[in-house]
Amino acid sequence: MSAKWENSIGEERLRPESLMMGYGYKPEWSEGALKSPIFQTSTFVFQTAEEGKAFFEVAYGLRDPEPGEKVGLIYSRLNNPDLEILEDRLTLWDEAEAALAFKSGMAAISTTLLAYLRPGDVLLHSEPIYGGTDHLINHVLPDFGIEPVRFDAHCSQQEVERLLAESLRSKRLGLILIETPANPTNDLIDIAMCAEVARRHSTAEHEVLLAVDNTFLGPIYQHPLEHGADLVLYSATKFIGGHSDLIAGACVGSAEVLAPVRALRTFMGTMCGPWEGWLLLRSLETLSLRMSRQIENACRVADFLAQHPKVDRVNYLGHITPGDPRYPLYQRQCLAPGGMIAFEVHGGEAAAFRLLNALRLVKLAVSLGGTESLAEHPASMTHADVSDEEKQRDGVTAGLIRLSVGVEHPDDLILDLEQALAAA
Ligand SMILES: Cc1ncc(COP(=O)(O)O)c(C=O)c1O
Repeated sequence: MSAKWENSIGEERLRPESLMMGYGYKPEWSEGALKSPIFQTSTFVFQTAEEGKAFFEVAYGLRDPEPGEKVGLIYSRLNNPDLEILEDRLTLWDEAEAALAFKSGMAAISTTLLAYLRPGDVLLHSEPIYGGTDHLINHVLPDFGIEPVRFDAHCSQQEVERLLAESLRSKRLGLILIETPANPTNDLIDIAMCAEVARRHSTAEHEVLLAVDNTFLGPIYQHPLEHGADLVLYSATKFIGGHSDLIAGACVGSAEVLAPVRALRTFMGTMCGPWEGWLLLRSLETLSLRMSRQIENACRVADFLAQHPKVDRVNYLGHITPGDPRYPLYQRQCLAPGGMIAFEVHGGEAAAFRLLNALRLVKLAVSLGGTESLAEHPASMTHADVSDEEKQRDGVTAGLIRLSVGVEHPDDLILDLEQALAAA
């Protein structure tokens, strides 16, 4: 179904916001239905046995497609119309050639890592990183002979090279995975610097790729491919889905770079289902509206928190001002400060728990990026599995609260936080 879609009027290219309602879908395919139906089917009927054979040959890479020949619909583990429309739309903000939709953010991350890493490889990764990704890297992949090497936002390129040097005496650098802004602290990792490290360690036989988890700001407010990344990963459960009613993930990049990931997705069965795919199509229509309101609200809430006497520290990208050493990187890489705030309440875990228990409008729940505001305690919840030493090093302290700001009225959010802080 993927084809060249109309994306301009005359010479003028249409923006993703305008394309989210129709790109990749033609009403005449479905009795004129304005919206794509949910193709809730496991399999697709071939017109002839010869057609089925041809579809498999192309899908399994047994031969190159003839000019104009597309992969036909075969089976919903390989492809499905809702997923193909979704994938076409997911390419737009990142200006990517291709996209893949997954059952979850973790499915996107694990399938991508397994597609590119081999026993004996080193995986260079940034910290802090989402707790589930941290578990995969530090507790699952080592059993497959993959050694993690960590670095953080304070490391220069020379320091990263120094951290790698010992491991690379006997091993090769397999892949670089970074998460920026980082969950839960909003730390910024320099994408261009990591692309340079990947390039330096690439050889004629083995190209080192850079994968960026763009969940916090993407796909609208950060475009890692422009800064040299090869693969962009998403938990689509978060801002892309945006209504806290589904779990999904995505990976975008060039068709060539995605090919091994697509193949492994087929055989691991980590693809998104048609229902979630359809829900994501609905969500993408309002992504820009939701995120811009979330960012406006987050700016108001972060300013309120920063002046509150019970708050020791606020990590919000909107508070990075000229003179801050992070400012040039923020300016270069991020197009907006986002809807995520990390703040440290005075009094450690006990005070943080009192605050969380007192919230009335903001819900006490993990996850983020939805229309409703959510607060959680990373040290004992999303990052409970991370070692105490790492938590300490990464600033995931006992008093730290992560706040995902929704689309509510900002005055009501501040009212709720004010009364909860009084209880803390
Ligand atoms: C930055 C980030 N990446 C990946 C994931 C994993 O996504 P999912 O829960 O959709 O598997 C999360 C989940 O919280 C996340 O915050």
